[in-house]
Amino acid sequence: MLTSRKRIFWDQLQTVRLYYQKPKFALIDLTFFFIGLFINPYRTCRKFLQKKGAANIYAYGETPFTTYQKMVDECGIGPDDVWVEMGSGRGKGCFWLSQFIKCKVVGIEWIPQFVFFSNMLRKIFRVKNLSFQRVDMQKADIAKATVIYLYGNFPQVDIPLTAKVISISAPLEGFTVLKTFWVRYPWGRTAAFLQKR
Ligand SMILES: C[S@@+](CC[C@H](N)C(=O)[O-])C[C@H]1O[C@@H](n2cnc3c(N)ncnc32)[C@H](O)[C@@H]1O
Repeated sequence: MLTSRKRIFWDQLQTVRLYYQKPKFALIDLTFFFIGLFINPYRTCRKFLQKKGAANIYAYGETPFTTYQKMVDECGIGPDDVWVEMGSGRGKGCFWLSQFIKCKVVGIEWIPQFVFFSNMLRKIFRVKNLSFQRVDMQKADIAKATVIYLYGNFPQVDIPLTAKVISISAPLEGFTVLKTFWVRYPWGRTAAFLQKR
């Protein structure tokens, strides 16, 4: 069994092997890596949550790109979708979707540093089909979403009637589960739920 750190390292090797044939994406991912040498996202998130007085301040984690690939395949996500990621963190997954699936992508995130760097990279690399909202997800404008991804414990969010939702580890209350499948994170394997109101 791989430890979390080894798993993250393994995921990075997979990223290079599977996704670095696309030079633009490779450059974006390497820039994230470079920024990460100076600004640790786990620490940034912990400090933000500490200031907010959150009960769990160790809530940060990132979805491997191979897990995004699995969600896209299992849920039939395509270029016509509008993917909204609730709590997009540094936005790495949003960039992956924008580059490989070519759908419209919206990242919702409340930590200012994350949104600052996501937006900076979006402008530098001229990524047109991607935007970020620096807002509490409860107040985000997600009316155009066709699919919403939630990874973490989240407050009640007003989800549009027509949107499908992918949640991790547990389904949302009041939703009908359309599909369940296994996904992998650095901390282990868990179930993902595709659901609709
Ligand atoms: C577990 S991380 C997931 C990051 C990214 N979605 C991924 O899968 O790689 C959860 C993110 O959600 C953000 N978050 C949590 N509650 C939020 C809220 N109410 N509004 C906006 N962002 C929130 C956190 O700041 C954190 O960056």
